Amino acid sequence: RKALPTGLHIRPLEAGDYERGHLDILRVLTVTPDVGALAWREQFRAMQACPATYYPLVIVDTAADRVVAAGCVFLERKFLRGLGRVGHIEDIAVDKAQQGKKLGLRIIQALTYISENAGCYKTILNCSDSNIPFYEKCGFEKKENEMAKYA
Ligand code: ACO
Repeated sequence: RKALPTGLHIRPLEAGDYERGHLDILRVLTVTPDVGALAWREQFRAMQACPATYYPLVIVDTAADRVVAAGCVFLERKFLRGLGRVGHIEDIAVDKAQQGKKLGLRIIQALTYISENAGCYKTILNCSDSNIPFYEKCGFEKKENEMAKYA
């Protein structure tokens, strides 16, 4: 695995990342209203209160003190497969100006490592057709179909 470009650093999401523009990054992915620092921190704490379940990661530009990419793996407990676990990769987003520099790939590698290291028998995700080549380059393969029902 290669290093990140100089000045960029990958680490778990921290309580101060609202101020570093975490929500601005997610906006490249989907509708992400500014819920404010307090509500953001409450959600962060609620996730932390679930032990060994949510692993949100960010890539930070250290000089600018800004989040430039984000992603999360959620570890689901199961009864089948001998009380197996599944890693769900969610909400991968790279700042437009930083796309194409392997940041997305590095985040996927780190999240997959967390999932496999925790003993998950598979790591899965949903994506658009246009992102299939990216996930194939990350070592994933297309399997089955996604179904959704929005409230
Ligand atoms: N089509 C074809 N190839 C692609 C695409 C694409 N859309 N995106 C990346 N690749 C290729 C790159 O060319 C590179 O190939 P190479 O190794 O041969 O040079 C390889 O995949 C790795 O690309 P990265 O540089 O790591 O990609 P990037 O950092 O730009 O991240 C991402 C990709 C996450 C899709 C980014 O462009 C992004 O944030 N897009 C908008 C939000 C989004 O769609 N997120 C994913 C939603 S799905 C989910 O969250 C589970």
